[in-house]
Amino acid sequence: MADDLMAPGDLVMFIDSKQRRYMVKLAEGHSFHLHTGIIEHDSVIGLEPGVTVRTSGGSRLLAVRPTLSDYILKMPRGAQVIYPKDLGPIIMLADIEPGMRVLEAGLGSGALSLTLLRAIGSEGSLVTYEMRDDHAARGLKNIADFLGCTPINHEVRIGDICDGIDSNDFDRIVLDLPDPWGALPAITPGLRPGGIVLCYLPTVPQVSQVVEALRDHGFGMVESVEILARSWHVEGMSVRPEHRMVGHTGFLVSARRLAGEVD
Ligand SMILES: C[S@@+](CC[C@H](N)C(=O)[O-])C[C@H]1O[C@@H](n2cnc3c(N)ncnc32)[C@H](O)[C@@H]1O
Repeated sequence: MADDLMAPGDLVMFIDSKQRRYMVKLAEGHSFHLHTGIIEHDSVIGLEPGVTVRTSGGSRLLAVRPTLSDYILKMPRGAQVIYPKDLGPIIMLADIEPGMRVLEAGLGSGALSLTLLRAIGSEGSLVTYEMRDDHAARGLKNIADFLGCTPINHEVRIGDICDGIDSNDFDRIVLDLPDPWGALPAITPGLRPGGIVLCYLPTVPQVSQVVEALRDHGFGMVESVEILARSWHVEGMSVRPEHRMVGHTGFLVSARRLAGEVD
């Protein structure tokens, strides 16, 4: 993909003078309408990303390729997504690297799946459980729209992860479920000893319950963290934190599966 010329089928993000962002999939003969005028897709196709174009009304729009983070914030949502500020730390805390075999639940809108797929690369594999057909359809469409295809190393299984996982030897497990403690009996044998499980949880009672459950299921090195990110406004002498920020999103709880003691 890199920074080649923009082509039909590519995602493009237009940014106006007020920093408002619009995500568009380019298609020959199509046009994008906004309050300041129209942009013909054909007038963008063949240009370099980073170019500034003009609407029919004469206003300027910067055209760039959306990053994964841009895409996640703009993509259609079925279920609530995990925000980019938490997705990056999830990769570090769970220590996910190329080639790993990762188990995930649930798919939801696909933000976490896209992040995990990028981290494991084409040599890795991702198995995702999702109990709702409508969420699975939305998540799979979001993934295919961003990647331009359905990745062959991503298997989505429709069902309740608490009923069992039909496979084992996972290097990592990442759970974004309301009740991850309920999944521990089914998933723990599928995680290799020394492997890491990470749970994303919006509320404090969920954190208490999953930490207790992780210890009861033979996990150690249990750590809980909340990530706060604050953007800054930097313009001339006006250098200060932005007035608005994403406040609370969720807590990240990670733990290692222990192998027991040598006699
Ligand atoms: C908050 S959403 C996940 C969002 C996703 N991580 C993202 O970033 O886009 C939680 C999803 O888990 C699914 N789910 C809840 N309990 C489940 C279970 N026991 N097994 C499988 N999927 C489950 C729900 O249907 C929902 O789609």
